[in-house]
Amino acid sequence: MLTDNHGRKINYLRLAVTDNCNLRCQYCMPEEGVQFAHKNELLSWEELLLLSQSFVEMGVDKIRITGGEPFVRKGLMDFLDKLAMLDGLQEISITTNATLIGPHIPRLKNLGITKINISFDSLDKARFNEITRRDQYDIVMANVQQMIDEGFDVKLNCVVMDGKNTEDIIPFVKYVQHHSLSVRFLEEMPFNGQSSGPTSLKWDYIAILEHIKAHFGPIQKLPAPPSSTSLNYQLKGSKGTFGVIPSYSRTFCGTCNRVRVTAKGEMQTCLYATETIDLRALIRESDHINGLKFSIYTAMQARFKDGFEAENQSETKKSMTLIGG
Ligand code: GTP
Ligand code: 5AD
Ligand code: SF4
Repeated sequence: MLTDNHGRKINYLRLAVTDNCNLRCQYCMPEEGVQFAHKNELLSWEELLLLSQSFVEMGVDKIRITGGEPFVRKGLMDFLDKLAMLDGLQEISITTNATLIGPHIPRLKNLGITKINISFDSLDKARFNEITRRDQYDIVMANVQQMIDEGFDVKLNCVVMDGKNTEDIIPFVKYVQHHSLSVRFLEEMPFNGQSSGPTSLKWDYIAILEHIKAHFGPIQKLPAPPSSTSLNYQLKGSKGTFGVIPSYSRTFCGTCNRVRVTAKGEMQTCLYATETIDLRALIRESDHINGLKFSIYTAMQARFKDGFEAENQSETKKSMTLIGG
């Protein structure tokens, strides 16, 4: 089992397969996009598989595919076929914007990949389009419905932004009363590729929960594993659940079980860290899996205690599409 210098077990890899995206969400990147990687800067599918195998051999049993938008990269489904065959890997999940997933739903179901988290920031079409700067609401809604019908475990991620979509909080909670899925309200992080963002957040997880309680009355907390990023709740009689993710307040660092690899193969031991470990260079210099594993292990022994310690070393102007979420 891979353990860090603070005794935390690391069993969850967040693996970005591209930094590109067909949307331009305001909290993630500027309208004009960012400096996306050239093809040869991206890890190839073979390299991604080798890397995944190394992490799994070290104790990772859950891999979440992230991006950018994973489905914009050609060959994703063939990669998932191979990934699903790795011995010791118990769970593959995907974070996506759900614009392109539709045709792949049956094949994902066959592979047992049914845990899908979807960036979805407004139930109102005009607001959704304004936030994403594209016109994809109808297709996303149709794909979400299809996944629910097929029995997928769907979680909507709603980044709460003051003045932009706070009027969506109550409708989202009402929506999950009648639909079998979860919505999680995310604190906005300063990773929009433009500015460092707020140092104090008006809509932190406490404010979001208070807002919900003021409308619905007392809410029932659901049990969650200690490493969970979300605090989850359910209203009596609801089909679905809702939650909050203190991604900016960082209440869950003490039990953090996650490691990230960007699409360029940079390993990031904390979401708020800027120092990365160049796994791509290690793979390309030598195909010795033991050397790779040694470097991964060593980096995990110099991990920050929490995201606040990591932030002290951070530059501003990070973009979530380059980090991988
Ligand atoms: P589950 O596997 O369903 O628990 O998903 P998840 O919440 O780990 O993944 P998802 O990709 O849906 O991420 C939801 C939000 O949590 C995103 O905004 C992530 O950036 C944030 N998040 C995930 N891991 C971390 C973390 O280690 N630190 C911080 N600060 N935020 C995180
Ligand atoms: N703050 C909070 N969450 C963000 N995401 C992307 N950018 C930000 C940000 N600046 C979320 C997306 C996606 C998840 C991986 O991260 O909603 O679902
Ligand atoms: Fe694309 Fe996801 Fe970033 Fe939105 S949050 S621009 S969907 S990568």
